[in-house]
Amino acid sequence: LARAYHEKVISHYEKPRNVGSLPKNDPHVGTGLVGAPACGDVMKLQIRVDEDGIISDVKFKTFGCGSAIASSSYMTERVMGLSLEEAGKIKNTEIAKELALPPVKLHCSMLAEDAIRSAIRDYQSKRSKMSEPKKKGFIDVSQSAATGETVATAHPGE
Ligand code: FES
Repeated sequence: LARAYHEKVISHYEKPRNVGSLPKNDPHVGTGLVGAPACGDVMKLQIRVDEDGIISDVKFKTFGCGSAIASSSYMTERVMGLSLEEAGKIKNTEIAKELALPPVKLHCSMLAEDAIRSAIRDYQSKRSKMSEPKKKGFIDVSQSAATGETVATAHPGE
């Protein structure tokens, strides 16, 4: 039984890296919260993204099996320092291979892939909401070149 799990799984399970939480309402933090339909386990993974779009901090909390905990712990180390695009490309198959997960535990690594994608989506939707320009109405005043008359044009906002 001791050899049933790969050493790396045991290491990440016994000493999970980056366990904890980041402030959910921080505009630089993206939160992913996902569940595995197969077993009901839940994983929360949060990223902090710096001004250059690089992941500068990662935290997770997983209510799940050892493989899910190991997968999320591995994922936090893997995405640190990556761009969002790079992080979004990490596949569960990489995690499963790295941790030598048996086929019945594949869905546990899938949870980590879902969680990072969900965190990235959350961060991006926060940013796009913040950068939406405020649509204010304005009035354009110019002088007609032909007549010399002052022309005011109203552009109503939305
Ligand atoms: Fe559910 Fe592993 S058994 S995540």
